[in-house]
Amino acid sequence: MNEILTLITGADRGMGFEIAKELGQVGQHVLIGARNYERGMLAVDELRKQDIDADIVLLDVADEDSIIAAQHNITESFGHLDILINNTGITLDNWEKPSTLSIDKIRGDFDVNFFGLVSVTQHMLPLLKNSSSAKIINISSAVGSLNIASDPTSSVYQHFSFGYQASKAAVNMFTIDLANELKNSHITVNSVNPGWVATDSPVGGGPKTLQEGVARTVELASQATNSINGTFSDTDGIVPW
Ligand SMILES: NC(=O)c1ccc[n+]([C@@H]2O[C@H](COP(=O)([O-])OP(=O)(O)OC[C@H]3O[C@@H](n4cnc5c(N)ncnc54)[C@H](OP(=O)(O)O)[C@@H]3O)[C@@H](O)[C@H]2O)c1
Repeated sequence: MNEILTLITGADRGMGFEIAKELGQVGQHVLIGARNYERGMLAVDELRKQDIDADIVLLDVADEDSIIAAQHNITESFGHLDILINNTGITLDNWEKPSTLSIDKIRGDFDVNFFGLVSVTQHMLPLLKNSSSAKIINISSAVGSLNIASDPTSSVYQHFSFGYQASKAAVNMFTIDLANELKNSHITVNSVNPGWVATDSPVGGGPKTLQEGVARTVELASQATNSINGTFSDTDGIVPW
């Protein structure tokens, strides 16, 4: 059987690295998306030491030229892609009021979390179409759920990170619409909520371990069947949009 080829964006550290490690451990060939060559190679070397099949793909999701170059490199080396995990995410705003949050910060969040994610996906789609069974997993967040964020009994109701939250809500809309467009194809599209996880991200520092944070993503990415499409889920089940 051919090795499953998986690209993870923002995989030199944090949950992206953990996803790469765990999928590598179950035999997938992981492509470490990294915007910095040295940091990316440190991650690749660490995985190779554990006998994981890993390569670097230089990829800054906020830079169209970098995305195009990454697509060309994967096309030349492999000709296809089986799984795309859009993990990269940043938070330029945290605990700032929506009434005064600067447009520059909101745009910055959207450039990486939404426009970057959409552009990477659009450019990788021809490669995913060359796979016999392909998956796109978008790492979203419960703070981007309109249902949860508008529920006064939820802790997210108290959370002010409007630019980040809106970018993740927009990611979820992309998941819904792309999953619908591709529903009769061999490509599935889903959003995942990691929960609040102990990483270096400004929204990190939560109680969940890296392993707990990536568990739903790893489960979806390693399922042999590929029938789940157009969902938003975490380890507890379906998350409301
Ligand atoms: N941590 C949480 O509690 C939590 C909760 C809900 C959702 N999430 C989401 O889960 C995902 C992973 O979060 P995390 O906490 O693991 O993040 P993290 O530790 O802050 O790591 C972020 C990763 O994204 C990369 N990155 C940043 N900007 C990039 C760009 N322009 N192009 C390519 N890569 C870029 C970083 O690379 P560099 O090393 O080069 O900076 C790093 O590898 C994100 O989408 C985040 O929004 C996290």
